[in-house]
Amino acid sequence: MGIYLDNAATSYPKPEAVYRAVDRFMREIGASSGRGAYRQALLADKVVFSAREALGKLFGIRDASRIVFTSNATESLNLAVKGLLKAGDHVVASSMEHNAVWRPLKRLEAERGIEITVAPCAKDGSLRPEDVIKAIRPNTRLVVMTHASNVTGTLLPVGEVGAAARDRGVLFLVDAAQTAGTCPIDAGTLGIDLLAFTGHKGLFGPTGTGGLYIREGVDLLPFKEGGTGGESILEHQPDHLPDRFEAGTLNISGIAGLLAGVDFILTEGIDRIRGKEKELTGHFLRALEIIPGIEVYGPKDPEKQVGVVSLNISGVMAQDVAYVLDEVYGVMVRSGLHCAPMAHRTIGTIDRGTVRFGIGYFNTIEEIDTMVQALAEIAGKTLTWK
Ligand SMILES: Cc1ncc(COP(=O)(O)O)c(C=O)c1O
Repeated sequence: MGIYLDNAATSYPKPEAVYRAVDRFMREIGASSGRGAYRQALLADKVVFSAREALGKLFGIRDASRIVFTSNATESLNLAVKGLLKAGDHVVASSMEHNAVWRPLKRLEAERGIEITVAPCAKDGSLRPEDVIKAIRPNTRLVVMTHASNVTGTLLPVGEVGAAARDRGVLFLVDAAQTAGTCPIDAGTLGIDLLAFTGHKGLFGPTGTGGLYIREGVDLLPFKEGGTGGESILEHQPDHLPDRFEAGTLNISGIAGLLAGVDFILTEGIDRIRGKEKELTGHFLRALEIIPGIEVYGPKDPEKQVGVVSLNISGVMAQDVAYVLDEVYGVMVRSGLHCAPMAHRTIGTIDRGTVRFGIGYFNTIEEIDTMVQALAEIAGKTLTWK
């Protein structure tokens, strides 16, 4: 096995407890949740209940029933945006958004006639809260923003924007795909009304898990209806959460793994996890400074970014760098546009994309050093070709 540095796509490896929890659920529990009264069905209920509670603890959400399970952040963002916005509504989004935010907004612009204003970010991906505030209008219903860019790792000022949105009676949706599990998030303190997260990145869950927190008083229309186990006599979807948004059998084996992942984070402590991310990212960024021919994007400061670093080597295509890193050095990274073309326009890499390194909790300083050596060799060879 080589060096895995694609944690921004999905985290790998997972804590041992995650593998064990999925295996145990599938072998020893196996029943559906919310639908049976026999002992194993109640154990399945307990897994789902405990996962909601653990997530509530992690995100500072007292009423965990306001967290609904989805299959990933993309589904959560679609549910939030499409369940909320109506014709004539105005939305403000940052220019670092992922397609999971941008494409649903564009669909609603075409189909429902919503209006979108993009608050421009600087070349390092950073956003000035005043640029969001000045875009707010009387018909602004929602501000939506990524917590950290998946291209540059840049942390966006969610606290300041959340407070400003709250003062103006505008709802605030945060895409925490790159920060849930790696950065402290307290939904109440940050003024977050809707928090979309994915289970398989920083939360260490299996793929196919995720969720949306919906603050009490925020009403969304569900986009799917169906069985919820209880209240089967009703012809319409129940109004109360989480059933209103959880039609159909949940991914309980995935949720069992997600629970183990969140428990791992709660036990390690989010500050320690963030601390290690900063240490590894800082080490990498410092090493990059002395390699000629490498352009690094983003703030280049571990205090201002998560463990995502994007770069290009002068004269080599991003895909070729990623290919050589894998083939020759066994280093796994991603290249291209990373599902966020607006972010690439913002940082000036729409034509060439970037090579992206996604540092995770289980990476080591030695792995970063090996990878830096590989990059130095690739960049050095390129310089001699010229
Ligand atoms: C910032 C951001 N938003 C949304 C997503 C979508 O996450 P998922 O693919 O788990 O739905 C990602 C994942 O790549 C992301 O990085």
